[in-house]
Amino acid sequence: MHEGKQALKSKLTKAVSKFDRVDLANLPTPLQKLENLSSHLGGPTIYMKRDDLTGGLTFGGNKTRMMEFRMPPAVSQGADIIVTGFAVQSNHARQIAVAARKLGMDVLIVSRGDHVENMPEIQGNLFIDLLANARVKILDIGPKEQSAAIEREVERLKSEGRNPYETGYSDEHLSAISYANCYLELEEQFEEKEISPDYLYVASGGATQAGLVLANKYIQSSMEVRGINMVDWVEDIPARISGIANEAAEELGLDFHVDKSDVVNYGDYLGKGYAKPTEKCIDAIRTTAGTEGILLDPVYSGKGMSGLIDHVENGPLKPDDEVVYLHTGGVPELFCETELFNLEDQIELGG
Ligand SMILES: Cc1ncc(COP(=O)(O)O)c(C=O)c1O
Repeated sequence: MHEGKQALKSKLTKAVSKFDRVDLANLPTPLQKLENLSSHLGGPTIYMKRDDLTGGLTFGGNKTRMMEFRMPPAVSQGADIIVTGFAVQSNHARQIAVAARKLGMDVLIVSRGDHVENMPEIQGNLFIDLLANARVKILDIGPKEQSAAIEREVERLKSEGRNPYETGYSDEHLSAISYANCYLELEEQFEEKEISPDYLYVASGGATQAGLVLANKYIQSSMEVRGINMVDWVEDIPARISGIANEAAEELGLDFHVDKSDVVNYGDYLGKGYAKPTEKCIDAIRTTAGTEGILLDPVYSGKGMSGLIDHVENGPLKPDDEVVYLHTGGVPELFCETELFNLEDQIELGG
């Protein structure tokens, strides 16, 4: 490695370390070689960065890493309740909820639902939210109306004398900084293992990829970051990602810019829409569980892996490439979707 890269890594490490953090995640997460999956696919050597194991809090995921950077402002404001949103089965909301509880705060989740007149199934992430004692309000709204709904709840809580703190899409630069830090963590693991992967795949259309791209470009790494998008309400994903990366770079005090053209993100694995599993995603989940015993989810990490597997089977990946898949978590939701997998055939009843 040439000296320039080392010096840039030190500068980035120093810039990140200036931010307040709370201790919530199990870090560093393992970087594991997936021998069985690689040989099953007859393809490139695949490593997995296990950010599904960030959880010292319940199940992990990418947001647990992010909460280490996003919770300090709430703590210093003396907040007594965290308000957030997202979908009813949101991993993001679950990780915010358990982080808030760990830090002694109440939680209000303002979710968006489809059939709000019906009680939802209490499973997966929602089950964990409720067990952690969060209050959950489910409203008939879309992602675009959610900020206003959350704002109304924040105002209502203030008028009742509470000290609410809202976290969600407004502090994505802090989420991105946590993933710039994850990139640095990966670089250390590459050095330890004496490997130099060509590609880093991740299921993201936002802050996760933004942080990775920021660090990747800043330290002038030769590895390419490839995102797989799974949201259907953002028109221009590369613009969103570069925007978050630039906000993070500014907060970090780096004189540095990420262009939209620096962002490689594939939209081809979304299928019919957000949270609508595809055949390829279902196959990817079965293949990964069946070869490695690692669980992926039907909304994010399974779709991401379906993109990686498709790139192995149909290009552009080549057999001698080295690839890292960053597992962003999401596992609780898998248990809400067991019917997708037609697993009854594997059960034999009787003696
Ligand atoms: C499991 C999982 N993976 C990936 C993502 C995508 O993260 P982002 O697009 O915010 O980077 C999320 C977001 O909630 C998630 O829960």
